[in-house]
Amino acid sequence: MGKVVVTMSHVNKSFPGVKALDDVSLTLREGEVMALLGENGAGKSTLMKILSGVYTRDSGEMTVFGKEIGMDFNAKKARELGIAIIHQELNMCQQLTVAENIFLGREITRRGRLDNQEMNRLAAKQLEQMHIRDLDPETEMSRLPVGKQQMVEISKALMLQAKVLVMDEPSSALSNAEVEELFRIVKELREQGKSIVYISHRLQELHHIVDTVTIMRDGRYITEGKFRDFTMDELISNMVGRKIDNQFPREIMPRGKKVLEVQHLNAGRLVRDVSFDAYAGEVLGFAGLVGAGRTETSRAIFGADSKESGKIIIDGKTADINCPRDAIDAGIVLVPEDRKKDGLCTKLSIRENIALPNLPSICRNGFIGTIDRKKENEIIEKGKSSLTIKMAGAEADAGTLSGGNQQKVVVAKWLARNSRVIIFDEPTRGIDVAAKVEIYEIINQLKKQGIAVIIISSEMPEVMGISDRILVMCDGRITGEMSSDEASETGILTCAMQFEDKLAAGAS
Ligand SMILES: Nc1ncnc2c1ncn2[C@@H]1O[C@H](COP(=O)(O)OP(=O)(O)O)[C@@H](O)[C@H]1O
Ligand SMILES: [Mg+2]
Repeated sequence: MGKVVVTMSHVNKSFPGVKALDDVSLTLREGEVMALLGENGAGKSTLMKILSGVYTRDSGEMTVFGKEIGMDFNAKKARELGIAIIHQELNMCQQLTVAENIFLGREITRRGRLDNQEMNRLAAKQLEQMHIRDLDPETEMSRLPVGKQQMVEISKALMLQAKVLVMDEPSSALSNAEVEELFRIVKELREQGKSIVYISHRLQELHHIVDTVTIMRDGRYITEGKFRDFTMDELISNMVGRKIDNQFPREIMPRGKKVLEVQHLNAGRLVRDVSFDAYAGEVLGFAGLVGAGRTETSRAIFGADSKESGKIIIDGKTADINCPRDAIDAGIVLVPEDRKKDGLCTKLSIRENIALPNLPSICRNGFIGTIDRKKENEIIEKGKSSLTIKMAGAEADAGTLSGGNQQKVVVAKWLARNSRVIIFDEPTRGIDVAAKVEIYEIINQLKKQGIAVIIISSEMPEVMGISDRILVMCDGRITGEMSSDEASETGILTCAMQFEDKLAAGAS
């Protein structure tokens, strides 16, 4: 084992309402490739953002190359010490060239002008050193596939003489050939004595490159060791077991008749031959890791994205859905993940938000006529009373409501219509525990009204707590189905991580 490069000890970090890191320690050595594992929300990204100076720790000690790191650490200082992070979401400037991105913020100039020739030359040299071919420094970033963009990020880090590289879920969007190239580079970097922290859920691939593993759960350090000393089951069982601090008021009722049938739905890389049924009075949960294809599946069903093939049947009748309007008419509603952006007009009042999708039925003389206030009030009262929306008055801007009440307005506007299926994408993300419970109550009420409710949730305790039946997705496919009685965190996570080993696939 090489000499110690980074130590983090007893690190704590809180965000409003959540303790993201609780007494976490980590040691990284020269020439070590460490897998950092943990479920969604375990605190992996937060820990790495502290290491790379993006976030400041609340307490705890850190050393880098033996040097004590003070609380005034920041991204610039981290860079100067040779720490580079390649974020989960790549942040390159799409309109700039490869070389311009690599030299962004420390452009080379000559007599007061950008020396593009020199920057292109140095970028080419760096790419050459990494044995990356067919990547021209003068290409505009937007023209490159994700994998190549990632290579540019890595090149940039190496140009900055990075000695410690953090890669946060780098391989999720890569093709087989791109994963192969990434792994080759990681191995080269290790041979050069660089240290790498590699965050990934793709357990199947890790053995190709990692030496050690550190596992986190619920903001805590759980265990570490040599990767090859763990079985797949041991890795997973160390990751699961998040404490359940929410109350899930799930009402059990007999399952009604089949409402929705989705048959062999295909839509892009993340919706591959998806088939399932949903029933009246049942909550069907979609579990999986971020990026598994659940949002994409719901968007394809809702007609928000086009599908390549597949059939959607509602109450026994095939529905021809080509746009959200078709879906709404057929009785399918989608409550999107980002309600401020996609689900709600925050500048309109509660009244207007609820009335909006119901305009055809409350306008005299059809769509363009004047609004029939009496009908409008009926609809708003119906929505308000069935969901007990607490508010000063219907005239308040929707944007001023709490997260839970905003969610209720989004649902209320659909209740006036005869919706048959309501799909919630991450319905409780970013809202407090009390509001979460309110949303679970809404779900119960919808269930009682005979609506087929579909919930997409990445929070394991939540999806287990509110669903009657659970489907698990991984990489655009359904990889598991279980009733709420059968479901266990280990079972769900095992299905959620059924990735193909892209390297093995590429080699064969
Ligand atoms: N900028 C932030 N503001 C508020 N909460 C955050 C922020 N970043 C992360 N969190 C919360 O901290 C916890 C750990 O998140 P994260 O480090 O992103 O986990 P992971 O990368 O393991 O999925 C989660 O509960 C998350 O919601
Ligand atoms: Mg993360």
